[in-house]
Amino acid sequence: MKILVTSALPYVNNDLHLGHMIGSVLPADVFARYARLCNHDVLYICGNDEYGTATEISALKEHITPKELCDKYHKIHKKVIKWFEISTDRFGRTTNKEHISTVQEIFLALYKKGYVVEKEIEQPIDMDTGIALADRYIEGTCPYCGYEYARGDQCENCGKLLTPQELINPKSKISGKPPIFKSNKHLFLDLPALQDKINDWQKERIQSWNHVAASITQNWMKEPLKLRDITRNIKWGVPVPLEKYKDLVIYVWFDAPIGYISITKMHTEKWKEWWMPENDNDVKYYQFMGKDNVPFHSVIFPGMLLGDGRQWKTVDVIHAMEYLNYEGKKFSKSKGTGIFCTQAMEYPYPADYWRFYLFLVAPDKSDTNFKWDEFVERVNKELIDNTGNLVRRLSTMVNRFGKVKPDKDENIIKEIDDFVDEYKKEMDNLNFRKALTLTLDLSAKVNAYFQSSAPWTKLKTNTDECNKIFYTIGYAVQRIATMLYPFTPKISEKIVKEFGMKLGFDDVGGFEVTDVNFMLKKMGQHVEKGIILRVGKIIKIEKNPNAEKLYVETVDIGNKNVTIVSGLVDYYSKEELLGKKIILVENLKPAKLRGVKSEGMLLAAEAGDTVEVLEPDAEVGDKILLQHDTNKDIITIDDLLSHKWEVKDNKVYFDDKELIIGGKPVKTKKVKNGVVR
Ligand code: 2FM
Ligand code: ZN
Repeated sequence: MKILVTSALPYVNNDLHLGHMIGSVLPADVFARYARLCNHDVLYICGNDEYGTATEISALKEHITPKELCDKYHKIHKKVIKWFEISTDRFGRTTNKEHISTVQEIFLALYKKGYVVEKEIEQPIDMDTGIALADRYIEGTCPYCGYEYARGDQCENCGKLLTPQELINPKSKISGKPPIFKSNKHLFLDLPALQDKINDWQKERIQSWNHVAASITQNWMKEPLKLRDITRNIKWGVPVPLEKYKDLVIYVWFDAPIGYISITKMHTEKWKEWWMPENDNDVKYYQFMGKDNVPFHSVIFPGMLLGDGRQWKTVDVIHAMEYLNYEGKKFSKSKGTGIFCTQAMEYPYPADYWRFYLFLVAPDKSDTNFKWDEFVERVNKELIDNTGNLVRRLSTMVNRFGKVKPDKDENIIKEIDDFVDEYKKEMDNLNFRKALTLTLDLSAKVNAYFQSSAPWTKLKTNTDECNKIFYTIGYAVQRIATMLYPFTPKISEKIVKEFGMKLGFDDVGGFEVTDVNFMLKKMGQHVEKGIILRVGKIIKIEKNPNAEKLYVETVDIGNKNVTIVSGLVDYYSKEELLGKKIILVENLKPAKLRGVKSEGMLLAAEAGDTVEVLEPDAEVGDKILLQHDTNKDIITIDDLLSHKWEVKDNKVYFDDKELIIGGKPVKTKKVKNGVVR
């Protein structure tokens, strides 16, 4: 059977993080690898989603063209995909040469059938660039709670849903100027007219989708479908192929899923075998994505293909993940939270370790957490101590023993086979975490068998018995390697290579070990290196009893309180400091200052006699890690001051880069130009 696998095309301008990986790319890869093991004809397609407003805006910010931005990030994403051992048959891009024509064809088919309709809407436009702004690109004061940085779609502070028109002093996030509201004609996909087709289509397949995908879809379908805008007034997109609308481009969410098709076209001339098979059953199509992508794949994209009316292959099985958080917080580049893929690549750990742990904490039912301590512990215990040591022990003993001939210990073989059957069931149903856990259980079971049958006592005295035990364990090890292969491909390949075996569930045949090579390196405890700045709040303050000019402050930094000592008595009263948000250098070597231990230092700007405590516009607990060459985890004041810290025009700079924490630049009020200490 043909198995078509796609994972959501990541936005080209996004920094891929571990949440993206476990959300869509890794489950797709695991399934594609498993399907290949089962000898299916598999095509796994992914790539970058390159058009749209977000790309246009990122390019403006980086002072390059959208095309240059896409080229730059495509290279980075490709590296990440390769490093994480993602086995795409093609990792393409939506700016490929088949894309525009494919999108326009589908658009026109829908238009001709009356499924695309015109409507006039009012939109905010950026004054400088003329870009029509999505609601989230407008910022202003919330009319409900007065929060100054409310977004045009929602106020982060009070949670109220907003429209850009409601904001007080709305400003474009691109130019910082007030937007101009303009009426414009736009085109809409007539989902109400497609509603019946979509309902019937969903009914046939929704029962085979995972819980996350099915429940989000059901929620969406509770209300009648609405018209959906599919055009934008920007340049960086697929042009609308109609003279009357030649200034509009097609909205990125219309063109992106068609990328699955156009990238396939780039990959093979026989693309129709996948996308327009003679019989629908010739191909089984699986899509993998994060939960926010579900309605686009379960309602809108199928709606588009059904409305187009040709014999398109539509998705059979949708698998969606909830979110992975990082140590209890959302991944956020601007807030410095989480591990981004390019950072993961710099650690001294192979991709397989990351893959392994990510599947153990896969958010397949609810949001889960990446935790460093747990990462280290589970890889060390469950992968290395459990499976790694089993392989290593077998290898060492068989190396001493010599050739092992086929001879099974039937009692345990039956148990091993049962595990394999169970594993296949879970994999077929895309229950990856369960399948991986089963594999580890099998490994533990075989370890126990190894221990209880004690072949080392029989090496000389009972070679037949010994041979049987080794063969049985070898049989299990080959299966364990195969079961692990979708998750930890490189480790699995090493395992079978050690015994001259092949991956798969076929009979092993005889085996031997000529060289003991197999070894997995344990992970060390995780420590963060660099300068850690953390947002805290002063919750208690008193004078240092031993020093006139020093305060002793208790600072809440989110997960704990710390005590610091600072020489601010001449500049601030206690009342002025109490409740203030500050920036703490968190990993400064603790020092005793006149008898009181200071566990960090707050940052202040200074110019002549003026001292101003830096007040970040960020949440308590927000953090940023600044590069520090010597790569120490604990730094000294000298380390800190070896960098250039400056205030220029009320903005703070660290080594000539603007200091951003919690996604917002740090600004001063009193000190216009000066230094930071
Ligand atoms: O959420 C995202 O990253 C989107 N770029 C996913 C697109 S999936 C598909 F339609 F291409
Ligand atoms: Zn508000």
